[in-house]
Amino acid sequence: MENNTNKRVLITGANGAMAKETIKHLIKHGYNNIVMAVRTKHKGEIAKREILQSVKFDQSLRLAVIDGFDMNHPEEIRKAVQKIDKTEPFDIVFLAAGFAVFSDNYEFITYKNTRFEKTVFQNLIGSHIVYVQLKRNELLSKTARIVMAGGEGARGISGMIKKPHFESKKSLMDYIHLKSESLPKYNPMNAIGVSKFVGGLWVKKLAEIEPNLEVVWFSPGLTSGSSGLKNLPKVKQTVFKLMFGMMNFLGKSQSPQKGGEKYADCLMGNIGKSGELIGAPEGKTLGGYTEQTPMNSDLEKIELREILWNSLTIFNA
Ligand SMILES: NC(=O)c1ccc[n+]([C@@H]2O[C@H](COP(=O)([O-])OP(=O)(O)OC[C@H]3O[C@@H](n4cnc5c(N)ncnc54)[C@H](OP(=O)(O)O)[C@@H]3O)[C@@H](O)[C@H]2O)c1
Repeated sequence: MENNTNKRVLITGANGAMAKETIKHLIKHGYNNIVMAVRTKHKGEIAKREILQSVKFDQSLRLAVIDGFDMNHPEEIRKAVQKIDKTEPFDIVFLAAGFAVFSDNYEFITYKNTRFEKTVFQNLIGSHIVYVQLKRNELLSKTARIVMAGGEGARGISGMIKKPHFESKKSLMDYIHLKSESLPKYNPMNAIGVSKFVGGLWVKKLAEIEPNLEVVWFSPGLTSGSSGLKNLPKVKQTVFKLMFGMMNFLGKSQSPQKGGEKYADCLMGNIGKSGELIGAPEGKTLGGYTEQTPMNSDLEKIELREILWNSLTIFNA
């Protein structure tokens, strides 16, 4: 077993399919100080049991479950960070919490009298608040590696997710605040694409202003087994199951074990440099690690990055 005992790791959405597998790989690689940041205590405890039943570990392992990390509730996140033992800062942070919002229409979260599109909130804004609170509480080591769960939807996936495109700062803000009367009809997959797109802008900005940190956006490629799908009606669950069965068979998606192994590799610093957005090659849902930015030129628009970052300052309290 490698010795990585001096590194402390925080993982949000830690009871998720890929996060659990990531944790198993980290333990195999000698990481023995991991905080599972979850929104529901009992789900976190079940996940912890499952992890401990399937890996070898020694007495030095500290695998803590801390609840309250609900990405749609800024105040809950602030309280949850307060519950973390402050003796050591985190060296590695995996922002893995999030999922699609399956609904017929746009949903939103209201914060300080302002509306925010819900998929963007739970995939990006909650993570931003986690980062801010870790920093504020001196829980982030000066050279920490932060990995944001990405997704190829940020540059579009033909036949599955429309390429996110924002003509101007105004069009991005109108989308996030659901202001525009010309918003496209709500589509949960397109919405997750936009949430991963803004995650990419966020990573680029954070990497720029925090040169001592390593901030990487990473997708291991399309992966089956997401626990969030279990909340769908039975018919839709079956459709997704069949679709993933077929895609796994065709090599277009992979198991959560494989996805988790790749995330662990990224967390350990083996994939991705600061500011990079790494995912599958153009036109593919799975494959060699490839920078995503050239696949959607909007990811390079500095004005989008700036307006997004400025719009997040209301969460910095
Ligand atoms: N599956 C893929 O093809 C794929 C590919 C690339 C990247 N990703 C990204 O990788 C991450 C993990 O994906 P996965 O497939 O492992 O999904 P998953 O099994 O559904 O796990 C998602 C996790 O996020 C948590 N979560 C969802 N909404 C939340 C909220 N509002 N507040 C707090 N926690 C919330 C869930 O907690 P609860 O159990 O409490 O709901 C769960 O722990 C996601 O960010 C996903 O977008 C997925």
